[in-house]
Amino acid sequence: MSRENIITINGQEFKFEPGETILDVATRNGIHIPTLCYLKRASSPTGACRMCVVEVEGARNLVASCSTPAAPGMVVRTDTKRVIEARRLNLELLLSSGNHNCLVQDLNQDNWTDFQLDSLKIKEHENICPAYGRCRLQDLAIQYGVKPRFIPKKTKYPVEENPFFIRDFSRCILCGRCVQACNEIQVNNAISFGYRGADTKVVAKGDYPLTNSDCVFCGECVQVCPVGSLVPRSVIINKVLPNEVKKIRTTCSYCGVGCQLYLHVKDNKIVEVTGVEDVPPNYGSLCVKGRFGYEFVHHPERLKKPLIKENGKFREAEWDEALELVANRLKEIKEKYGPDSMGFLTSARATNEENYIAQKFTRAVLGTNNIDHCARL
Ligand code: SF4
Ligand code: SF4
Ligand code: SF4
Ligand code: FES
Repeated sequence: MSRENIITINGQEFKFEPGETILDVATRNGIHIPTLCYLKRASSPTGACRMCVVEVEGARNLVASCSTPAAPGMVVRTDTKRVIEARRLNLELLLSSGNHNCLVQDLNQDNWTDFQLDSLKIKEHENICPAYGRCRLQDLAIQYGVKPRFIPKKTKYPVEENPFFIRDFSRCILCGRCVQACNEIQVNNAISFGYRGADTKVVAKGDYPLTNSDCVFCGECVQVCPVGSLVPRSVIINKVLPNEVKKIRTTCSYCGVGCQLYLHVKDNKIVEVTGVEDVPPNYGSLCVKGRFGYEFVHHPERLKKPLIKENGKFREAEWDEALELVANRLKEIKEKYGPDSMGFLTSARATNEENYIAQKFTRAVLGTNNIDHCARL
């Protein structure tokens, strides 16, 4: 093995490719390093949270593994006392940087490894954070047995709501993942960091509410937020706890791209939709329709049966009756006026396969080339 691209992590030697960071090599080889601000698909790490610090032989200070390139002969330890203490201090500071009240009660527990999500107790707990049980900061605080040692800072920014999610600035840890996700992954450029020092805040242009900004409500920022700062309204309204939902993987039905998504189902009702990470074609990203446009599924006015218009009024019918009526009418029109008297529009709401069948039916069965698609309207 050439020694040129070998790095040692926790006593084991690993090969690395030029450009890989310590975190890349560790993750690829199954060595877990905790992260909060690192966003895999972003162009470069922000190095904001310092949770991923590791010890490198010969270096005076601990280094952030997400932003430090692997180098030949580098010797790294991810789990020394110094590393653990630094992570614990970072967690204490992050917990004290805002309103992270979720741990106060549970911190009295002696045995952290036995920590269990007790949904009944949580429901009784007033003002519980909507991210309880789904927050990376909470997970790490529990894992490292960290208490919010310092007096929490108060934020002067009120909670902002829009039709899709809430922005609670009191729980924001300024990791920057939402800003990177919006600007680099969705390329919407709707948000950035505004103000300075203790006043720093994620803002839309001019610090207007998102409803008055360039935001298209794709929800990418919500999916990547590691804490309870960005939370879908449906999660709050339905008081969703992660141990109460069943995640069902499916394909988005809105267009032919075929985005992979998870339906989060509680009591047989969809309460949230998230993109499936790491798989094509969307790698976790969704548009506003795929992520938030699912209310039609349970809507009382949703059409479940075909309607036939008679004497100016619609009546419900069975599928056999409706299909027979349409087939007979198409046949009559074709015989009387010829196939080119008809034209057909297919739909982006149908799958590619359904659109293919529609053009086959139009050309081969009806005998006309008058077939088009709503994408060209
Ligand atoms: S954001 Fe996370 S750490 Fe903060 S209160 Fe909510 S669950 Fe707890
Ligand atoms: S919802 Fe989409 S467009 Fe709006 S701020 Fe979040 S990532 Fe940007
Ligand atoms: S809103 Fe969430 S993702 Fe954005 S900076 Fe704050 S904590 Fe990070
Ligand atoms: S994950 Fe490396 S600094 Fe935040």
